[in-house]
Amino acid sequence: MAQIIAMHSHRGGTGRSSIAANLARLMADEGRRVALVDTDIQSPAAHILFGTGDPGLCRSLADYLIGRCEVEDAVLALPSDGGELFLVPARAEASGIHEIIAQGYDVGLLREGFDRLTDVLGLDVLLLDTHAGINNETMTAVASAGTVAVVTRSCPLDLAGAGETIEFTQQLGAPRRTLVVNMVPPGVPGEAAGQRAEAAFGCPPLAVLPYEPDMAKAAGARLFAEAHPDHPLVGEFRSMIPALLAQGGRR
Ligand SMILES: Nc1ncnc2c1ncn2[C@@H]1O[C@H](COP(=O)(O)OP(=O)(O)OP(=O)(O)O)[C@@H](O)[C@H]1O
Ligand SMILES: [Mg+2]
Repeated sequence: MAQIIAMHSHRGGTGRSSIAANLARLMADEGRRVALVDTDIQSPAAHILFGTGDPGLCRSLADYLIGRCEVEDAVLALPSDGGELFLVPARAEASGIHEIIAQGYDVGLLREGFDRLTDVLGLDVLLLDTHAGINNETMTAVASAGTVAVVTRSCPLDLAGAGETIEFTQQLGAPRRTLVVNMVPPGVPGEAAGQRAEAAFGCPPLAVLPYEPDMAKAAGARLFAEAHPDHPLVGEFRSMIPALLAQGGRR
């Protein structure tokens, strides 16, 4: 049974895509069969983070949703040291967004696509990157997931969205919500940042990650875990994996 993990944030730019891509790489390299689906059709990132080029050259999630291909035709197999790593890019950079807005799509196809990928690829883990806030793709991703990983910064601006996030995930019946505090600014103790987030979300964080200038500098050039496998932040990503996968399930 595959574990389905959806990344979610109330606000943009919290680090969801970077964390999802690095976790996907590390989970696969530890020997699992892992797929990352970029459901952020508005602002795709995964194909850039993995350096696969413009999905205009291949099929994408948007192509599947508008009926141009099967979902498995949109899968890119990426090299992995120990397991299998698959990526479904969101859309081609130039045209995909216009087509999908103009034509619309049957949102039930998205859930069907997740199920089909899980079966066809024999997945251990399906990671779903999402657009910030609430839209159709994000609602479907959260409603499909066994675990929702809420990524937040520790500033009052982000934490103000905690109530809405809790309500949203509860309404969609998410079995398990876990909290990742990211980009703790230099000079702010991690413990204090974690406590602030815990007070807002009502659960202790799975991880409290510092703002790491090397990560910001590398954005989009090369996946951080590939470029800096021994970096302490990559060690933090690795140590999140067992707890993230514990108890998570498919539904
Ligand atoms: N811990 C960190 N330290 C420093 N920079 C980080 C950290 N985590 C992510 N970043 C950087 O923050 C930027 C935004 O990250 P990312 O695109 O992953 O966020 P996102 O939540 O997916 O954004 P969006 O809402 O646009 O989808 C990127 O430049 C990324 O490299
Ligand atoms: Mg993103």
